[in-house]
Amino acid sequence: MAEITRERWSSRTLFIFAAIGSAIGLGNVWRFPYLCYEYGGGVFLIPWIIGLIVLGIPWMMMEFGMGRYFQRGAPGVFEGIGKKWEWVGWWPVFCAFLIVTYYTVIVAWSLRYVVSSATMAWGVGEAGATGAGAYFFEQVLNLSSGPSVLGAPVLPLLGFLALTWVVLFFIMFKGARVIGKVAVWTVTIPWALLLVLLVRGLTLPGAIDGLNYYLSPDLAALGNVEVWFAAFSQIAFTLSLGMAGMFAYGSFIAKKADVTNNAFIASFSNCATSFFAGFAVFSIVGFIMQALSVPVGDVSSAGLGLAFVTFPVGISMLPGANAFIGILFFLCIFFLGIDSAFFLAYGGVIAPLMDKFGWSRVKATAIVCVVAFAIGIVYTTTGGLYWLDIVDRTVCFYGLLITGALACLVVGWGFGAEKLREHVNETSDFKVGTWFNWMIKIVVPLGLLFVVIYGGFMQDIPTSYGGYPRWATNVMWIILGVTLLLSFWFQAIKTKGPKEGE
Ligand code: PHE
Repeated sequence: MAEITRERWSSRTLFIFAAIGSAIGLGNVWRFPYLCYEYGGGVFLIPWIIGLIVLGIPWMMMEFGMGRYFQRGAPGVFEGIGKKWEWVGWWPVFCAFLIVTYYTVIVAWSLRYVVSSATMAWGVGEAGATGAGAYFFEQVLNLSSGPSVLGAPVLPLLGFLALTWVVLFFIMFKGARVIGKVAVWTVTIPWALLLVLLVRGLTLPGAIDGLNYYLSPDLAALGNVEVWFAAFSQIAFTLSLGMAGMFAYGSFIAKKADVTNNAFIASFSNCATSFFAGFAVFSIVGFIMQALSVPVGDVSSAGLGLAFVTFPVGISMLPGANAFIGILFFLCIFFLGIDSAFFLAYGGVIAPLMDKFGWSRVKATAIVCVVAFAIGIVYTTTGGLYWLDIVDRTVCFYGLLITGALACLVVGWGFGAEKLREHVNETSDFKVGTWFNWMIKIVVPLGLLFVVIYGGFMQDIPTSYGGYPRWATNVMWIILGVTLLLSFWFQAIKTKGPKEGE
């Protein structure tokens, strides 16, 4: 294949930071520590690390390697394997697009909370601790009674969402060079902030009790399928694979650069961040337990509840510098989220659109920012949280796992895992053995399908997801179906391909 002029990372270091930044996100703080506590404490690390090695790392090498081989984002890669496969690359593009429409809303909430923290708007001391939940759901979100009651957009959220998209536009419109430079900051700043929060957390009374809950091992957990499900689903989610973007990020690597070692560094750094964040989270959990004399079950939580309720409770109870720590924490959430957002938007959507339609970078970036912002308005309405949750389940669970499994199968059997292995080994610091082929052809797809069936279909088909009305769950299947149809449609569109040098 002729070498084409493709945009490039300015250095290996910048690429690694961009990859780490895309993987590190809200999940490292609000998902991993909780899963660890819930599923066996320290013992959870075993299935999690096994998941990392057998699923995560080979999968990441595959996405980087295929992107580098074809020098294209996901749809271009699958079109390169065979014209009939292009849709396998578009499906995750549509999923990535939907994710970024709501991921940016969470980033906007964090900005909102930076402002709220400055005045400790939810209150300090016990009053703040009791009022933090109501502040989030009633004041900040103005939450309606259910997904069928949308209501008007909440103006401060709309404003912060617009601001988030303006920031994203300026980060993305010059492409990989600027993205790489920005990623160095969006990775190191949250690391530094986590360190500050950790030191503050560990010096609080009760911290050690919290850490005991985080890590005290329960060996019996290893025999529980649920634990393996939790570990594998977290690995699939945390590395930001299956969302098209890593193919494009890989396509910006020079033809002679390393793949295997970079995949190791990026995925281990991501997981180390999760492990580290767990100490910060559970030291605060322990502190709240002691300060309010409540059991761990009342305090530990995952997801939005951890960041926007539990942490504010802890911040209210601090003996001093409440506003300062609040600002640091929500800035940390902001920086954690923003680089996953530009990864989704740029690697996941903009680069593929430029590849296919030959649009200029500025045009593609502007269109994606405006359309994604417009869709995001839905989540700023008073019923927005419910929709955010439903769309999240659809694309970040089903979409990610199904498209990820499909991609591995088409690459493994259609393109040839051995061909990919040889390509990757040619230039990499260390060579992967033939075990890699079986991972891509069989183990990764099976692992992902296990998660989708066990944790997904077996639950959402008999009982409606999240306790929502049945129609809301059906919306999930409709979104999946529509994005799949759109993928076939995009495959059918004939274009001249990318402009040289874009
Ligand atoms: N990896 C991100 C996190 O841990 C989530 C994410 C998934 C982001 C898929 C982009 C794509 O928060």
